[in-house]
Amino acid sequence: MSVLHNLDRIEQEALLDITQKQTLEELDQVRVALIGKKGSLTQILRSMNTLTVEERPKVGKRANEVQRTIEGALAEKKEELAAKELEQRISQSALDITLPGRRQAHGARHVISQIVREIESIFIGLGYTVETGPYVETEYYNFTSLNAPQDHPSRSPRDTFYIEDLTESCDEKSAFSAHLVSDVLLRTQTSPVQMRVMEAQEPPIYMLSPGRVFRPDTPDANHLPQFTQIEGLVVDKGITFADLKGTLDHMTRALFGQDRKTRYRPHFFPFTEPSCEVDVSCGVCGGNGCRFCNHTGWLEILGAGMVDPNVLAYAKIDADVYSGFAFGIGAERVAALRYNLPDLRLLTTGDMRFLKQFS
Ligand code: PHE
Repeated sequence: MSVLHNLDRIEQEALLDITQKQTLEELDQVRVALIGKKGSLTQILRSMNTLTVEERPKVGKRANEVQRTIEGALAEKKEELAAKELEQRISQSALDITLPGRRQAHGARHVISQIVREIESIFIGLGYTVETGPYVETEYYNFTSLNAPQDHPSRSPRDTFYIEDLTESCDEKSAFSAHLVSDVLLRTQTSPVQMRVMEAQEPPIYMLSPGRVFRPDTPDANHLPQFTQIEGLVVDKGITFADLKGTLDHMTRALFGQDRKTRYRPHFFPFTEPSCEVDVSCGVCGGNGCRFCNHTGWLEILGAGMVDPNVLAYAKIDADVYSGFAFGIGAERVAALRYNLPDLRLLTTGDMRFLKQFS
């Protein structure tokens, strides 16, 4: 009987079809094709009235069986696919806690900032305050009030960056700018902060002032056009060269180690009298002389001296009552000496291989 054959075929094909479906959507298409309004099984059930009286019960029974089988297979597959899809959704949106985290790269202070902080903390421990001053200075604070004569060579545009005033162009001004000289400049030293602090504060003054300074030098192994100084100034009653020496010896030992010796060499600075440069014994050879210290056994680290009475006079401090000492340390120099740096320019690069050694 062809209808029964048909039913067998529909059943077989349907079961195979259902097992092969991968998604709920595909599965629903199968359901519609079989038992939907125009489905193949639906059509057979609808055409029962065209069958003979003997055929009807047999076909009806078989058709109901096929329908139940198909519905059962559809339901089973639906459950399976729904579970699979849910699992997929969960695994896609899940946070995989077994995955190693992405580590945030931690920054670190630059070696120069580290040295500045270290020197600050040595002096904060001695009761000093930390002061700041502007990078753009006037010629008065950078030179004149620090007792530098008008013809002092450091005032020359070869040694100082002057800032041209372009807002006015009167003859006198343009004559100035023709020589690149004006009364505004990039400070060449942190010493102008001495004057600013002496003007603003009454003695006793115990202050430290770290900051950037600028000089028209071509960068090479030993020079940078922009570097860092740390200025120190003490003004109080009865301050002597012994105080300067004791203070700077304390600092060099705290910075370089207890076994390092210091040497005070006469020098000249316009704003201190007497003046000296301070050397520390070479850490590479222990003072015996080597290539690093130019075979002298000593390395220069700072300039210092007793505050010149002329400077106190500019600050309107009575030199008969007060005296003081001042010093200026180059932070890049300290870094070079401490870490035996072959070239100061390393400090201004962003080369992480170099910088990471100090973090
Ligand atoms: N300002 C001087 C320099 O740049 C250093 C210094 C500071 C010397 C304070 C004496 C006192 O060379």
